[in-house]
Amino acid sequence: MSKPVLWLRCEKKDFERRAALTPTTAKKLIDGGFDIFVERDEQRIFKDSEYDAVGCKLVENNTWPSAPLSTTIVGLKELEASSDPIAHTHIHFAHSYKGQAGWAQFLSRFHRGGGTLYDIEFLTDANGRRVAAFGFHAGFAGAAVGALALAAQKKGEKLGVLTAYENEDAMIHDIRAALGGSGKGVKALVIGALGRCGRGAVQLFRNIGLEEDDILKWDLTETAKGGPFSEILDVDIFVNCIYLSSKIPSFLTKEQIAAAGKERRLSVVVDVSCDATNPNNPVPIYDAITTFDKPTVEADVGSENPPLAVIAIDHLPSLLPREASEQFSTDLLPSLLEYPDARVWTEAEKLFRKKVAEAVQYKE
Ligand SMILES: NC(=O)c1ccc[n+]([C@@H]2O[C@H](COP(=O)([O-])OP(=O)(O)OC[C@H]3O[C@@H](n4cnc5c(N)ncnc54)[C@H](O)[C@@H]3O)[C@@H](O)[C@H]2O)c1
Repeated sequence: MSKPVLWLRCEKKDFERRAALTPTTAKKLIDGGFDIFVERDEQRIFKDSEYDAVGCKLVENNTWPSAPLSTTIVGLKELEASSDPIAHTHIHFAHSYKGQAGWAQFLSRFHRGGGTLYDIEFLTDANGRRVAAFGFHAGFAGAAVGALALAAQKKGEKLGVLTAYENEDAMIHDIRAALGGSGKGVKALVIGALGRCGRGAVQLFRNIGLEEDDILKWDLTETAKGGPFSEILDVDIFVNCIYLSSKIPSFLTKEQIAAAGKERRLSVVVDVSCDATNPNNPVPIYDAITTFDKPTVEADVGSENPPLAVIAIDHLPSLLPREASEQFSTDLLPSLLEYPDARVWTEAEKLFRKKVAEAVQYKE
């Protein structure tokens, strides 16, 4: 039987430069017998010519609705808002299975059009682990923004607008320069250090020159005693990377920070987990997420005390679109090579059918 045809659509969200298929993974799929169409996209970090060079067929921007229905449309982010029925099969992060805003209207478009959705967030292996996620580069980029904010603070400034880096080397070079050549002497604490984001944060700190002993790596064992933790006040940068699944004592509180007065070393908090609106947020020192335009917010720690910058950006991997895409797409590749027959796809389709049935029943 001939292999399916995949169609990489453009991303329509501002600042989204990442891609679900990269020239590297597209080439491997083509070698595996797939036909790959790629919409031209100036926003994408990979040039159209890079896809062309490996044998992809280039098509015009945002033309997937006119693709043959036997084609599977691949992307990262949600489709543009519309009420049109959806007749194609789609693979992307739809953010519509946990009651998110507009979920029922979106899923009922598939019901009306006869299309299918494989939501990447719910592609899991036999052990229930997600086959592809962006965590490592979220932690890596989060720690990077933390280091840049520390450098700005040392100069009595606030970190300005962030733009995506061409690659990791450019990012590391920029941070080292901002810190006067190296991050040596900076001390950081990462909680959730054994997870995807946590490992990325630790790696960034290594790459910018922190001493290994100055990168404190905590996970469940270290937090088992219950917070708040005074140790957090004794580092320059604290990065929270945990996967929050239940109510836990706060790691850090405003009162604890204010009580530390002028002696506090902690200057920057990066909340990679970004559970700002979750009532169980273990870093309850800020209220809303921050953005590439305004990456930091000052925590209210008493006007006479040294400042404390908080970073809570919820799309951190976009800061390193090339490497983040490569890692993600490489992780997705083995599943794609088995598309659509393997368990990972049939289970995801079962979940989709269940969610669509719920959407059809749903009344606002
Ligand atoms: N800001 C962003 O751009 C961005 C991007 C991707 C993921 N995330 C978020 O980052 C979080 C982590 O994602 P991940 O993929 O790294 O998850 P993961 O499951 O790979 O890792 C989470 C780690 O946290 C640890 N952990 C859980 N509870 C803990 C506790 N109470 N004390 C100490 N350690 C604890 C776990 O043991 C695990 O090692 C998620 O909430 C995810 O949504 C944010």
